[in-house]
Amino acid sequence: MTSTQAPAPTAADITATRGQDSGGRNLFDDFAPLGNPLRDGLTDKRTPDPCVMVIFGVTGDLTARKLMPALWDLAVGHPLPEGFSIVGVSRRSWTDEEFREEMRAAVVRGARTPVTDEAWKQFSEGLFYVAGDFAAAQTYTDLASRLEAIDTERRTQGNRLFYLATSPTYFPDIIENLGTSGIAERREIYSDPRERWNRVVVEKPFGHDVESARQLIQEMATVFSEQQIYRIDHYLGKETVQNVMAFRFANILFEPVFNRSYVEHIQITAAEAIGVEGRGGYYEDSGALRDMVQSHLLQLLTVVAMEPPAVFRGDEVRDEKVKVLRSVVPPIGPQVDSRAIRGQYGAGYMGGKPVEGYLTERGVRPESQTETFVALKLEIDNWRWANVPFYLRTGKRLPRRVTEIAITFKKVPHLMFRNAVDTAPDSNVITMRIQPDEGIAIRFAAKVPGPTNKLRNVPMDFYYGSTFGETSPDAYERLILDAMLGDPTLFQRRDEVETAWGIVQPVLDGWANGLSPTRQYDSGTWGPAEADAMVREDGFHWRRP
Ligand SMILES: NC(=O)c1ccc[n+]([C@@H]2O[C@H](COP(=O)([O-])OP(=O)(O)OC[C@H]3O[C@@H](n4cnc5c(N)ncnc54)[C@H](OP(=O)(O)O)[C@@H]3O)[C@@H](O)[C@H]2O)c1
Repeated sequence: MTSTQAPAPTAADITATRGQDSGGRNLFDDFAPLGNPLRDGLTDKRTPDPCVMVIFGVTGDLTARKLMPALWDLAVGHPLPEGFSIVGVSRRSWTDEEFREEMRAAVVRGARTPVTDEAWKQFSEGLFYVAGDFAAAQTYTDLASRLEAIDTERRTQGNRLFYLATSPTYFPDIIENLGTSGIAERREIYSDPRERWNRVVVEKPFGHDVESARQLIQEMATVFSEQQIYRIDHYLGKETVQNVMAFRFANILFEPVFNRSYVEHIQITAAEAIGVEGRGGYYEDSGALRDMVQSHLLQLLTVVAMEPPAVFRGDEVRDEKVKVLRSVVPPIGPQVDSRAIRGQYGAGYMGGKPVEGYLTERGVRPESQTETFVALKLEIDNWRWANVPFYLRTGKRLPRRVTEIAITFKKVPHLMFRNAVDTAPDSNVITMRIQPDEGIAIRFAAKVPGPTNKLRNVPMDFYYGSTFGETSPDAYERLILDAMLGDPTLFQRRDEVETAWGIVQPVLDGWANGLSPTRQYDSGTWGPAEADAMVREDGFHWRRP
């Protein structure tokens, strides 16, 4: 009898049909050497297509301190595409030549790689400047003709990376004008790679609260699709933050104990030793909760608390980050009083020198309640982290600059050495140092040499610098390159931004209603006493990093 059954598919058949769309295009074959050419983003190649980067606000602080040095280091260290060009837009009436001179000075000040005349000449041939107001249509007419000329002369193929290095108040003007002038073209996710691309990078803050964030998201969506928008939080570009994911998900040793069965609590600290440094006017509208917690600290929380993504790639990583943010329980109503402590630095001493308090800084209102310090207790209502408190703390004029994540483990259930030690050893702690002294330390108990069973806590320390022997690239280098490549993994998706605002909004509301009033702390101390009381009530204490 002849069988009518189809032969079982071979592994090759399965591979050949998996992930194909109705037209037979393979949508998920991202591991091919050049990545999947049909999907915007998600490629492994590390040389972007020829393109022009347009920086709005190019005369500003961010461009001089971060963007231009990063672009120079990229140009020297990695092959930027042939013909790569930068067009700067701001009001100042610079010529191309003046622009090039200013940028050279910025690069000399801020870049990792020294500048040589010959290399600079080659790089600066791709620098152009367009003077104009962001709100004026003429600016975009001038920009469009500049871009066309560059495409012809330098073969940049119509590919554009727009970078909004301006105050967010200008975003709507710029976005709208990019749309109406026809410079920006909307593209959806499965664009043909042979078509030209354009993407827009947006600097934080993405809004001032939930409502304004949603509004900004909608305004941008009128011109760009979500796949074209790259919302930058430069913390995610830091090697040490990416290493948190490597530490957790590339080692079998640690991940099995990263959960409520073993972890007692987690502290995330971002301490600065400096004050507002003359930027009181900007800071008055922001404060530590918006400036640091809504963005950087919640990003750190996501990488330490998220579930393992199936693959390190755009939506797979961002899906997991959003999932954990959605599980975060912020302080609600009266809880704000005891779980969202705010402080403001007063006068004090830094490095033995007297310093003034926040209220006497330039641009600060004399009766200001703006917080320069926040200590927050959050819970994560999911299977992995139920009942494990997450304490977040950030502030200015604290004793030292340090950003770290510290995971404190539960004590052993039974200490057989108890009769032989003076004091029981502390819990194991894994500390991930984001900056400075980038690295990871593990604290554990060891037997002190000698005839007794005395124990002592000892550290096992990994230092990035000494292990890899070279300075890490700046976060902006990685992020700019990723945006040029169309890789969105380290950028924030709209739902991530909205969910993060949803976590801080109840705190903003509680504070607006007078809960947890702003407490003064002396410059050079670790914040107000109420922040210590918050963790002490749970039986813990803040680390003194
Ligand atoms: N600075 C940082 O380290 C840093 C870090 C993280 C995020 N950010 C974010 O990055 C963005 C930019 O910050 P920034 O410190 O660079 O700002 P900035 O120093 O104020 O620079 C903005 C530039 O925009 C130009 N500009 C202002 N109004 C304009 C208008 N109507 N038309 C045309 N040009 C105009 C100004 O140039 P002209 O005077 O020449 O017109 C100014 O140099 C902000 O969203 C900020 O929050 C900054």
